Amino acid sequence: MSTLQIRYEYVTRLCHRKSIVTVNGQFPGPRIVAREGDRLLIKVVNNVQNNISIHWHGIRQLQTGWADGPAYVTQCPIQRGQSYVYNYTITGQRGTLFWHAHISWLRSTLYGPLIILPKQGSQYPFPKPHKEVPIIFGEWWNSDPEAVISEALQSGGGPNVSDAYTMNGLPGPLYNCSAKDTFKLKVKAGKIYLLRLINAALNDQLFFSIANHTLTVVEVDAVYVKPLATNTILIAPGQTTNVLLKTKPHYPNATFLMTARPYATGLGTFNNSTVAGLLEYKTSHKNHHSSASLKNLPLLKPVLPALNDTSFATKFTNKLRSLATAQFPANVPQKVDRQFFFTVSLGTSPCQKNQTCQGPNGTKFAASVNNVSFVLPTRTSLLQSHFFSQSKGVYTTNFPTTPLNPFNYTGTPPNNTMVSNGTKMVVLPYNTSVELVMQDTSILGAENHPLHLHGFNLFVVGQGFGNFDPKNDSANFNLVDPVERNTVGVPSGGWVAIRFLADNPGVWFMHCHLEVHTSWGLRMAWVVLDGNLPNQKLLPPPSDLPKC
Ligand code: C2O
Repeated sequence: MSTLQIRYEYVTRLCHRKSIVTVNGQFPGPRIVAREGDRLLIKVVNNVQNNISIHWHGIRQLQTGWADGPAYVTQCPIQRGQSYVYNYTITGQRGTLFWHAHISWLRSTLYGPLIILPKQGSQYPFPKPHKEVPIIFGEWWNSDPEAVISEALQSGGGPNVSDAYTMNGLPGPLYNCSAKDTFKLKVKAGKIYLLRLINAALNDQLFFSIANHTLTVVEVDAVYVKPLATNTILIAPGQTTNVLLKTKPHYPNATFLMTARPYATGLGTFNNSTVAGLLEYKTSHKNHHSSASLKNLPLLKPVLPALNDTSFATKFTNKLRSLATAQFPANVPQKVDRQFFFTVSLGTSPCQKNQTCQGPNGTKFAASVNNVSFVLPTRTSLLQSHFFSQSKGVYTTNFPTTPLNPFNYTGTPPNNTMVSNGTKMVVLPYNTSVELVMQDTSILGAENHPLHLHGFNLFVVGQGFGNFDPKNDSANFNLVDPVERNTVGVPSGGWVAIRFLADNPGVWFMHCHLEVHTSWGLRMAWVVLDGNLPNQKLLPPPSDLPKC
């Protein structure tokens, strides 16, 4: 059993020193490395004022929904002075994932890589790398991110944007007072490196590139893909991407910047800055390049796509394909039991008396799925009320499976931008094969939303722009080798179609992984019922499950 101690630690970035919530005093948090098939027992001890819960993002949690982590969805948070053991087995998964706090905005500082190595003796379906290097992107606020979101929710306005992006916790040399906080990747010539890229930023999708080097994508969200060579990748919060980096055959006379900056399509303000790290070649021959001469090497910068380059984003995501081999098949559900059509939208809700709301016509910002802005319970978790059959007064099962009033989703927005509040879920019998089309709307401006589904991987069978056309668009779905992932971007002013098999009993959260949108209500949950066989049932809750 490993233990994660949640405690405060002083950290300085951009010349701002502040106390932050950490795991074991580390920022970013520790790397957890396991193997496919391992059972993990991770004890989380809360020594801070804040309520805590930890999510193992992308882990399927077959039968162990109690270990999934979203606060008030699968558990009550761990209160100060208490602890909880997350107990789960990694079945049928290997690759790069990450863990993060799943309550309020605490994941701004509580996050770290979760690396699942293949079973002992089994190989990667790509050349064996010389070294493996996790690179986790995050966001840094000079102020307290918890205060940023609670102030935004209270006032009804948009939250302040972060002050920097980070790469393994370091903003890099393009920010003021930050040059010493630069991530450096030292490589040898003529080798293959596996970079495990993770986007743990709160609110921004990122483009990432390394000057004068090609990246070959071999895995996304812990599923192998057909190798895809590219100069730049796009990675949304909640997504992970493994790339092979082949270093130059000979020692180059240059140092290379690795940079990331946002892909932003919405109307809101965002942090428009660039995080950078250094790719430095080292040599075993002494005297070849002393550190003094290294300093004099030219520094080459990559060219990243424009901030709103939807054309690049679309081309890149369209090219990702499951590996789909006999050993790593793409088990795309071929038949569909239930179809759903969800609009994902920003909207508004009424301003309260004591608020100074910044939304249109003095309203406050909100967000919704099929016009329902999801409200989390506060006295229990959804999974507990489901398991103990105590849903009364906690949730209802009438989540709308299509928008209540269909409209032209990407045309002129409807006059009424108000959302309705509710704690509504969809109930699925065990093994239901689901097809879900998610449609972005232009209600408060079109925007790309990275939607994350807990408990499952989803197959991205189609995507397009404008309004989804059930007849013509579904005829073109890819049911052979669609990319399989846990977080998918709904294109700005467009739609995405996914399929998944509901073979995991429990309550599963689905939400936009842009934290501000989740906070505004762009979230919902599915209830998957038990099957008949013992291995098709949700296990009973552990005895140390926290109380609200
Ligand atoms: Cu990575 Cu529900 O979250």
